[in-house]
Amino acid sequence: STGPTATRRLPPDAAGIAEAAALLRAGRLVAFPTETVYGLGADATDAAAVAGIFAAKDRPRFNPLISHLADADAALAEGVFDAQARRLATAFWPGPLTLVVPAHPGTRVCDLARAGLPSLALRVPAHPLAQALLAEVGRPVAAPSANRSGRVSPTRAAHVLDDLAGRIAAVLDGGDTMVGVESTVVACLGGAPRLLRPGGITRAALRDVLGLDPASPEAADADRPAGPGMLASHYAPRARVRLDAVRIEPGEAVLLFGAERPAGHETARASLNLSPSGDPAEAAARLFGALRDLDASGAGTIAVVPIPEDGLGEAIRDRLARAAAPR
Ligand code: TXA
Ligand code: MG
Repeated sequence: STGPTATRRLPPDAAGIAEAAALLRAGRLVAFPTETVYGLGADATDAAAVAGIFAAKDRPRFNPLISHLADADAALAEGVFDAQARRLATAFWPGPLTLVVPAHPGTRVCDLARAGLPSLALRVPAHPLAQALLAEVGRPVAAPSANRSGRVSPTRAAHVLDDLAGRIAAVLDGGDTMVGVESTVVACLGGAPRLLRPGGITRAALRDVLGLDPASPEAADADRPAGPGMLASHYAPRARVRLDAVRIEPGEAVLLFGAERPAGHETARASLNLSPSGDPAEAAARLFGALRDLDASGAGTIAVVPIPEDGLGEAIRDRLARAAAPR
């Protein structure tokens, strides 16, 4: 049905999981928590269900979706894994890693979920609710982040409802997600693995397993993105975002990190600290919620202090750069 739907909030218990799984198996859209962000799920084998994802998000159909599986064996059956891909899957699944591999000729994932590409993005999330849900569905579940296209990714059920209430059947409410930025996307398509999107698994952790630095994504460029969905402008709050701010103008909202205070910060309209102790993992977990909250302050600009590049800092800086990109 294309009419407005009352979106149900399902509890994080066996009954909620069973209801969410039944809805997915019936071709409906259900948002669910992963350890990174909430995903907007649909049965990846059902093209009509997958079409609903693109419609609910206003997502361009050239941007392919990640298919989620309950365990590595189920994921291995959908794609063709070379030695490096196997190594990464063994090291990081379940977890915040997405592998782009050639689609297995017998894959059940429909063409639309892959945007017609010969490759396929696969992920085995570690969140206990996602694991239980995927096991009960027993099919690949296509799930982009559960936000309207181009907007900030959701890290709690209320964020999902802010963007998608009335457009999806249900959200399985698992509280706050733990990692807070999306999965790291690595392409293993022959040749050296390529890092398409920095995320919850750090570059250093990839290097430890691969024994080499993964090739970097090309610089974000609206015309020539590193991956089909790696658009320069993304994760955008309504407010303008200004990076590496060392001086705050009166009335701006300010996003802080660590103990340093930029000049003029006391004149800010609103202020939040991603991590007073300067911990990049804590900062990643708070990033998207903080952007949504500062946006709600009504400020015209969110000024962000410099964030160090180490650890999850690379993923945080990537998301902030896209939030600040011209729209
Ligand atoms: O943490 C996450 O990855 C979350 C949770 C829900 O799993 N999902 C997520 O999905 O962030 P989404 O659709 O917002 O981002 C998936 C990214 C997109 O940039 C897409 O272009 C890329 O993965 N991708 C998917 N399939 C691909 C493919 N075959 N080749 C290259 N990139 C691909
Ligand atoms: Mg997204």
